[in-house]
Amino acid sequence: MLEPSADEIRDWGNSVTQFMIDYLGDLRDRPAYRHTSSGEIRSGLDPKLPIEGTDFDSLLRAFRETIVPFSRQNAHPRMFGYVQSPGTPIGAFADLLASTLNANLTIWRSAPAPVELERLTIDWIRQILGFNAEAGGLFVSGGSMANLAALATARQTRCDSLGRLRIYASNATHFSIAKAAALLGIGRENVQHVAVDQRFRMRVDDLIAIITADVQAGYVPFCVVGNAGTVDTGAVDPLREIREVANRFQLWMHVDGSYGAFAILADSARKLFAGMEQADSIALDPHKWLYLPVDVGCVIYRDPEAARATFAHEAEYTRMFGEEADEAFVCWDYGPELSRRFRALKVWMLLKGVGLDRLGEAIESNLACARHLESMVQASDDFEMAAPVGLSIFCFRHVPRRLRDQSPGVIDAFNERLLVALQRDGSSYLSNTTLGGRFTLRGCVLNYRTTLRDMEILLDDLRRVAKSLG
Ligand SMILES: Cc1ncc(COP(=O)(O)O)c(C=O)c1O
Repeated sequence: MLEPSADEIRDWGNSVTQFMIDYLGDLRDRPAYRHTSSGEIRSGLDPKLPIEGTDFDSLLRAFRETIVPFSRQNAHPRMFGYVQSPGTPIGAFADLLASTLNANLTIWRSAPAPVELERLTIDWIRQILGFNAEAGGLFVSGGSMANLAALATARQTRCDSLGRLRIYASNATHFSIAKAAALLGIGRENVQHVAVDQRFRMRVDDLIAIITADVQAGYVPFCVVGNAGTVDTGAVDPLREIREVANRFQLWMHVDGSYGAFAILADSARKLFAGMEQADSIALDPHKWLYLPVDVGCVIYRDPEAARATFAHEAEYTRMFGEEADEAFVCWDYGPELSRRFRALKVWMLLKGVGLDRLGEAIESNLACARHLESMVQASDDFEMAAPVGLSIFCFRHVPRRLRDQSPGVIDAFNERLLVALQRDGSSYLSNTTLGGRFTLRGCVLNYRTTLRDMEILLDDLRRVAKSLG
């Protein structure tokens, strides 16, 4: 088992590939989610400490029978919850190859070709976003880590400040920004929440008012975070205007593009992102809208030297000798991690294998699905939108005729029960958020398999499940 023969590797590979073919082949016919319990799953797993080994077929059987059915099927075309990528076979094969090579991307010398591939791929992403030629960055575990690395770099530029540092972000910003502020010692309480407009975009007048008041009160404003797609409604903040405010108050401008930034590849969405390329840093998630399997996030800095000033660390046991500039590249100078898996391989294989045209079409089709749902809801008399559709996120409520005259509280409570019942039903999966104090059903189209018909099935599923609630 530890060192299988060539025949064993071939057999294992064939079985795994066959699993992938079968799994993806009838995905649409299976539930997106199956309600279960910890006890039910544990009852299918042998709890004994494994002193002796087990053959591969038994392991694969346990995976197929116990792990797969009791997992949420994230690749399902009607898995609309959270911000969930479906994954793609090319990404899965790339992960297999990356683990086979087991490259560890700490510095160029440890993994020369993998590090070159990462630098090349990061540069492609830089070009997709329209950042300056000198910009650079790293692949990290996800958007949260990218936000942390960017805020650490932003803080470093003000390391000699005496007053309390302050960060500004709309009140629709993902919690990883506040968490990063806490971890960096800035403090959650020093993330100032800026009001949003009717479309849930940051209100720049409120941003200016809060910064001005903070300056007068002796705080040190140092960073503003703009969203390129908020997690709850998909709103894109007015990034160009935020840049102007950042210039005026000498703030670091960070963009959280973890969910939405790759929608710049879709013609109909591109203009929303004007000004994003002027940010000092950006967090992205190829494991969201590039459809790749977790984990791969990405941080890009306008001036990578600022990141080096934050993360570089020399220790005797890592000192390098006789390297030229390119070959002396040190990955840990640009982010918090030392050992790093070869995430770039799946990004490179996807971009090169699929191409930007096809990716742009897939993203465009996701946007069209969300807009289709919005039109159907607006044309119906038993659903209402809770926010306008900006990208591929849709927030809405079911209001059957019998509830139309009821209070918002009753309608919200009904939708909460409906969400749980829909998830247990399994045909479609939504998650939820709260907007303006009201419970909201929330979905996100992030799957190249999802069709306009799936959006119609979602509404049918909700009506059917609602009836069963009585
Ligand atoms: C806008 C936004 N930022 C950050 C994150 C965190 O990303 P990750 O889960 O990759 O850490 C998310 C996750 O959904 C997100 O939607």
